Parts: sequence; structure tokens; C-alpha cells
Amino acid sequence: MMTQATNTFQSRPYPKPQSRLILGDCITILKTLPSQSIDLVVTDPPYLVNYTARDGRKIMGDTCKKWVYPAFQEIARVLKNNAFIVSFYGWHKIQHFMQVWMTLGLSPVGHFACVKKYASKRGFTASHHENAYLLAKGHPRLSSAKAPRSVLEMPYSGNKLHPTQKPVELLSTFIKAYSRPGDTILDPFAGSASTAIAAKSAGRECIAIEKDPQYFALAKQRLQSLLLQG
Ligand SMILES: C[S@@+](CC[C@H](N)C(=O)[O-])C[C@H]1O[C@@H](n2cnc3c(N)ncnc32)[C@H](O)[C@@H]1O
Repeated sequence: MMTQATNTFQSRPYPKPQSRLILGDCITILKTLPSQSIDLVVTDPPYLVNYTARDGRKIMGDTCKKWVYPAFQEIARVLKNNAFIVSFYGWHKIQHFMQVWMTLGLSPVGHFACVKKYASKRGFTASHHENAYLLAKGHPRLSSAKAPRSVLEMPYSGNKLHPTQKPVELLSTFIKAYSRPGDTILDPFAGSASTAIAAKSAGRECIAIEKDPQYFALAKQRLQSLLLQG
């Protein structure tokens, strides 16, 4: 497997992890990171729903749940004690995620409904929201004045770079609420690097990992153009 590490953002003195966009399987890559080196995880893993976009684009890992435990085991290891994870999930397969989170001692301490003006799918309901859990490793503290609303607006991202591209504004809300400037954010399922863009724009470092070389290449271009602008 090819792994490319790109020092995409400004470097910080050792031992603060440097911002990187990494091509590879997050289970393998995370094993190379030190324990308790990450301040906040914001991630949007495959929902386990075999999603196919209207234009045919698909998502790796979206048909098989065997990665869920080893990936979150590593995520929990690299996260500092008393810190948060924000993880999107597909409501259809929540049992697989929740079982793993509870086994690993990641406690649900909040939940977000992210409301879309448009319906992304129509079945027995018109799908107007995405879900994310706020999970705690240990007992993080947060001033209630900083707590974001549990129902948030989710603007349309356009999905140009990735079929399930999350809007940067939404990810920024999580990053600003649950981390501080200079902190290191992890997104092990980076897609088009929306979390990294939000993190960088908010003055945080970000380690972003993406397995699909096609999305990795688009994410790399996106981050490079942000750097050129900044
Ligand atoms: C739901 S998408 C994330 C989209 C992202 N939030 C965005 O705004 O572009 C999940 C991503 O995880 C990637 N992925 C799946 N399994 C992975 C693994 N084991 N390691 C790293 N990335 C993985 C997929 O290729 C996909 O791009």
C-alpha cells in the first residue's frame, strides 16, 4: 500500500503533531501516531449503506463493517483523555457503531441533527437531516456557554469533490466548540478534507487520512489552493 504524507500546513515545534494529509488505510496509519496526541476527532465515516451517488460515485468501506472496531480502537487510543469525538453515522446501521463505541468506553454525551433544506433521499420519509454523535473519552469539561445547539443548519456543500461532502461551516461549529486554537484535530475518514479546511481556517492543526487515491488527490488540491489563498 502506498502511503504519502504531505506536510500541508505550517509546522509546529515537536512534540505537537504537524498537520498532514495522508493517503492510506486509517487503521494502519493511526498505529503510527502516538497515544493521546489528538485533542479532538471530527469525522464522517462510511455509513455502511452501500451508497451510490446519482453520478455513480461510491465510497470505500461502505458495504462491510469489519473496519469499525479496529478503526475506533485506534481513534480512541490516539485521542487525549477527557476529550471529544464528533462522528457522523448512518441511522440505518447505528447498532454497529454504538456497540463499538460503548465497548471502547466512548460515551455518548450529545447528539446533533443537522438539517438540510433539500431531501437527500425519499423513502418512507424525505431525508432532511444527517446525524452525528458527540462522544466523550473520559470526562471532558465544557462551559455551557460554549455548547452548540443540538439542531444545526446544514447548508448544501455541492458535493463537487466528494459524493457525501460535508459543509465546512458545519464542521467549523464542532471544531470551535470542542477544541482550542493550536489544538490538533483528527479526521481518519477525510474524503475531500472538509474537516481539515475547517480546522485550518479556525487556527487548528489537522491530521487527515483518506484511503481512496481519487478523493485523496482532490483533497490535496483543495488544501493546496487554501494555502495559496492564505
Ligand atoms: C463519508 S466519506 C467522508 C466525506 C468527507 N466528510 C467530505 O466532506 O468530503 C468517508 C471517506 O472515508 C474513506 N475511507 C473509507 N474507509 C477508510 C479507511 N479504512 N481509511 C481511510 N479512509 C477510509 C472513503 O474513501 C471516504 O472518502
